Amino acid sequence: MTIIVTGGAGFIGSNFIFHMLDKYPDYRIVCLDCLTYAGNLSTLAPVMDNPNFRFVKESITDREAVYKLFEEEHPDMVVNFAAESHVDRSIENPEVFLDTNIKGTAVLMDACRKYGIKRYHQVSTDEVYGDLPLDRPDLFFTEETPIHTSSPYSSSKAGADLLVLAYHRTYGLPVTISRCSNNYGPYHFPEKLIPLMIANALNDKPLPVYGKGENVRDWLYVEDHCRAIDLIIHNGRVGEVYNVGGHNEMKNIDIVKMICKELGKPESLITYVADRKGHDMRYAIDPTKIHNELGWLPETKFADGIKKTIQWYLDNKEWWETIISGEYQNYYEKMYANR
Ligand code: NAD
Ligand code: DAU
Repeated sequence: MTIIVTGGAGFIGSNFIFHMLDKYPDYRIVCLDCLTYAGNLSTLAPVMDNPNFRFVKESITDREAVYKLFEEEHPDMVVNFAAESHVDRSIENPEVFLDTNIKGTAVLMDACRKYGIKRYHQVSTDEVYGDLPLDRPDLFFTEETPIHTSSPYSSSKAGADLLVLAYHRTYGLPVTISRCSNNYGPYHFPEKLIPLMIANALNDKPLPVYGKGENVRDWLYVEDHCRAIDLIIHNGRVGEVYNVGGHNEMKNIDIVKMICKELGKPESLITYVADRKGHDMRYAIDPTKIHNELGWLPETKFADGIKKTIQWYLDNKEWWETIISGEYQNYYEKMYANR
């Protein structure tokens, strides 16, 4: 079994590669990643010498490079994590989101059609469903919830999802899609809420909370997401969408306070800043389908997962300090200076 994992030098893709190489010692995993600002080759250092692993630095938008890789590797499956993934960056500059998230997905699926494939899996997001109101805790996103996006990022992911389903219906491509809630865990890029707050708190810097901090996200430990994708690519039904989420809704402000407490830092570091444009209020996944069909359940409780995550950032300072001391500084200044 040979699996091309795109975006494997990023947060979830790298955790998925570790999971797969560990669980399936006879699988070959080929990581295709062009190493944008969010991709980090040092993340993959633990598997670089594994004879079942290969890293290829190319873009999923480069048709020639993608076809060449398919000719070399004859993959059985493709799992597409590669994407521009940050909502705030998509608000500043939507174009690259359209190129990578939509065109890149089409190029990968064209390669799958040309060379044949057992499964193409698209790693998608609950953000394609838009948001839910805070005063309706009885409402959840199911696979039947209409697509209703808010940001350029979520719109580009929704566009990709629609293309994936169209390639299944029109060309019979054997596809599956997973739509997961917010992940957290090791190797999470420090532009995102949890690692940003951990890094800033450790450096005694202000903790910038958007708006009133009342927006709700449904947090899932990254390993639980990786197990879900593993189940879907092996046992999921072709042409189907599976929602993935852990019934773990939390307000942003409560997470930030929890991080302060764990690190012994004062809540006076919390600074309320201008809200994100078009900010989604609440995400909440109904994971009944993946539970009933594939027996998936989350295994890591948030109280344990956040402790493990904070400990990982304490133990791996070099990883994130290298990132935040580089080009990231310019991004941070621009994004937060006048908020
Ligand atoms: P990330 O930003 O940490 O990593 C993205 C990776 O994709 C990086 O390694 C980057 O170099 C690579 N990449 C970007 N453009 C590329 C291109 N053109 N060609 C090849 N590689 C390219 O993202 P993440 O948080 O790990 O998210 C991975 C996937 O999961 C994305 O598709 C995202 O939409 C989806 N997702 C993320 C979450 C979350 O909470 N992080 C939740 C649900 C779904
Ligand atoms: O729901 C899945 C999605 O989760 C994925 O599809 C995206 O790729 C991933 O980035 C994530 O999107 P969010 O926008 O929910 O994550 P982010 O970490 O950027 O923000 C989480 C919440 O915290 C959101 O309500 C905005 C808020 N926030 C974020 C940052 C970076 C702040 O209050 N302050 C901040 O500095």
